[in-house]
Amino acid sequence: MIIGIPKEIMPGEARVASSPETVKKFVSAGMQVLVEKSAGDGSFYHDEDYKLAGAEIIDCPKDLFQRAELILKVKEPLFNEQVKLHEVEMMHEGQYLITFIHPASPVNHDMVKMLAKQGVTSLTLDGIPRISRAQNMDALTSMSTCAGYKGILLAANALPNFMPQMFTAVGAIKPAKVLVLGVGVAGLQALATARRLGAITYAADIRPAAAEQAQSLGAKVVETGVPSELAIAKGGYANSLTEEWLVKERENLKEVIKECDVVFCSALVPGKIAPILITEEMLKEMKNGSVVVDISIDQGGNCALTPPGKVEVKHGVTLIGIKNIPGILPTSSTWMFAQNVFNLVHFLTKDKRIVLDMDDEIVQSILVTHRGEIVHSGAKEAMGLK
Ligand code: NAI
Repeated sequence: MIIGIPKEIMPGEARVASSPETVKKFVSAGMQVLVEKSAGDGSFYHDEDYKLAGAEIIDCPKDLFQRAELILKVKEPLFNEQVKLHEVEMMHEGQYLITFIHPASPVNHDMVKMLAKQGVTSLTLDGIPRISRAQNMDALTSMSTCAGYKGILLAANALPNFMPQMFTAVGAIKPAKVLVLGVGVAGLQALATARRLGAITYAADIRPAAAEQAQSLGAKVVETGVPSELAIAKGGYANSLTEEWLVKERENLKEVIKECDVVFCSALVPGKIAPILITEEMLKEMKNGSVVVDISIDQGGNCALTPPGKVEVKHGVTLIGIKNIPGILPTSSTWMFAQNVFNLVHFLTKDKRIVLDMDDEIVQSILVTHRGEIVHSGAKEAMGLK
């Protein structure tokens, strides 16, 4: 099988879908790998490294898309300004694509329809089920780990004071207080990182299991006041709360937020907009110079005033709304992403070719388009096709 690794074309995207390490593993497994020229530069993986790993470097993305049987990408297919073609237009019937597609998201509907029309079999990484045998393929979890770590470093950098406790000749300095709202994968990593930097950590989550995990990392749990029967949806994930319960939750969080130096926002409900946990009124009461890092910004944000994609100071609080935080930790995020994708391809491959077992839970939940049809149930529902 010929695998193609194009250079990512989303502005500012530094990651790439394969590292020299995974290229070497593909080549050892009998695959041929094509890497677009300078595809890994943003992650500090260079053409020479890929060549040494056994890849062929390709100058033009059109050639790469034409020759490859499987395309591995980080971001969904987009319009390529360099060749004036959409990436899907460069693809062909029977070709496989593995990337983050987010097929239910309305901005991607036309692109998903194009994939089906081109006869591309596309598989989305955001569909990897959270089951133990899929853990090493779960790129979403890897990227959340990166966002949790780097998000706290961004906060530490923006904070006008020290994070750890300091004893100096001129007096003692108190440690910073960091509150994490929503303790999923990213939130747990944020708590661990803040603690390593010497902060006092607090955590709030509506799922009791998440709060317990936070506590085991040394965080003080802030009660949200939301009963667990309302908080937990089918499959153990968080439920979308009514405005009435969100008002109660905010009331419970208010006093702690006032005391904190950093609030790390990572509360999400799958498939829904993020709950607002910090209103403008609450922001006004926060300490001068405090920092809010809102990694839920792609889903609208947990803080009502977070500027999407930007850093701004409002009411004396630095609001960090940077999107794609894993992209600013490019070597580690590429390394993790590439391992996840390699594991997925390895799982899908029999005798050096992809063979889809339609009865398998992993295949069922990642398949988006196949044989000219859109098969992803979430995408079909969102498009009104079922
Ligand atoms: P997520 O990114 O969907 O949500 C983050 C957190 O926000 C969740 O803990 C959720 O309970 C919380 N949240 C939602 N609404 C809230 C509100 N109003 N107030 C406060 N918190 C709120 O979560 P993620 O990272 O997807 O993890 C969800 C669970 O899945 C975790 O328990 C994690 O350990 C588990 N997981 C399991 C995997 C596996 O078995 N392969 C892989 C990854 C995660």
